[in-house]
Parts: sequence; C-alpha cells; structure tokens
Amino acid sequence: MTFDDQEYLQRDPLIDRILITSDEIQRRVAELGREISKEYPHSVPIVVSILKGGVMFHADLQRRLSVLHEIDFLSVSSYHGRTESSGVVRIVKDLKENITDRDVILVEDIVDTGRTLSYLLEILRARRPRSLKVVALLNKVDARVVDVPVDWVGFDIPNEFVIGYGLDWQEKYRNLPFVGVLKG
Ligand code: IMP
Repeated sequence: MTFDDQEYLQRDPLIDRILITSDEIQRRVAELGREISKEYPHSVPIVVSILKGGVMFHADLQRRLSVLHEIDFLSVSSYHGRTESSGVVRIVKDLKENITDRDVILVEDIVDTGRTLSYLLEILRARRPRSLKVVALLNKVDARVVDVPVDWVGFDIPNEFVIGYGLDWQEKYRNLPFVGVLKG
C-alpha cells in the first residue's frame, strides 16, 4: 500500500478497506498492456473507453501499449446511482470513429451482471469491426447473469460493491487510486 492509498483511507471514514492497492493495479495494467500489445503486431486498433468508469483504466492502459493505436469514447447510462444493475442501458454518447473493418478493443471498468457489456457488444458487432475484444479491469464472476466473453481480465473480485479507480458510488470516489469497499 502506498502513502497515497493510506492517506485516502484515513481521510474518509466511509471507506471500509482497500481491495486492490494502487501498486497492484499498476503492475497488472502493465502486464495487460504487454499481453494486449502482442495481439496486434500488424494493425492499429481502436481502443474504446466506456465513460465514465473506464476512463482511468483506459488512460493507464494506453500508456502501457507498445503498439500504435487510436482511442475513442463511448458513454452509456446503466446505473443511475443505485448499487444494483438495472440491465437498462442506453447510448448517451456514441463513438466518433467508424469501426467497420477495424480491430476494436473495448475497455471496461467492471463486468458485473454482464448486461451492459452484452448490449454494447451487440451494437458494436452490427458495425462489422474486423475484430472486437474486451478488456475489463474487474470481473465479478459470481454476479454474472448474461454469459459474455471477456478476453482479458485484470482481477476477479468477490460480489461486493466496489469504488475507486474510475468506479463511483453516486458519482463520487472515482478519483481513488485503489479499488476499495465502502462501509456497509
Ligand atoms: P453490469 O451491466 O451489471 O455488468 O454492470 C456494469 C456497470 O455497472 C459497470 O460498467 C459499472 O458502471 C457498474 N457497476 C457494476 N458493479 C459496480 C460496482 O461494484 N461499483 C461501481 N459500479 C459498478
């Protein structure tokens, strides 16, 4: 645990504990960057960030990719401040780039029930990309309702509501450098 992690933890009595430290995240993101780079020796993939939760992971991951790539952003609404997945997702901001015949990498913060990802994959597949892969920092294996393919996973985590490193609770706590759990 870094000094920063400890500072944040001590400053906010609502944070119960750290699940994944900032060091652990950074080490894993570097590994993922190496693994993903190996897959694209001859193409320039579009790395798509899903706003807002995926932004921090996306920013760190990009800097660990050793291959040329482009970036784009997609925003869907699904959670609306509740702590349970509604399954209702809607595109709030679409991609700027045309992904037809391109290699696309979708960067997700967390796959919980899988509903959001399943919906997104359906929409993006209809645009006929050459390939479409998914990297998710966090994977709540036991919460899965929809079977959905995830090509790279940062960490499998228990079925608990987590915050930090892009993930929010009522729009707050996205700035934490670690992934943590709020007090029950
Ligand atoms: P799913 O559709 O149930 O897989 O949920 C996916 C989305 O719900 C994620 O992209 C997050 O925005 C949000 N979400 C799911 N679990 C958590 C959590 O533990 N903390 C914060 N957001 C979450």
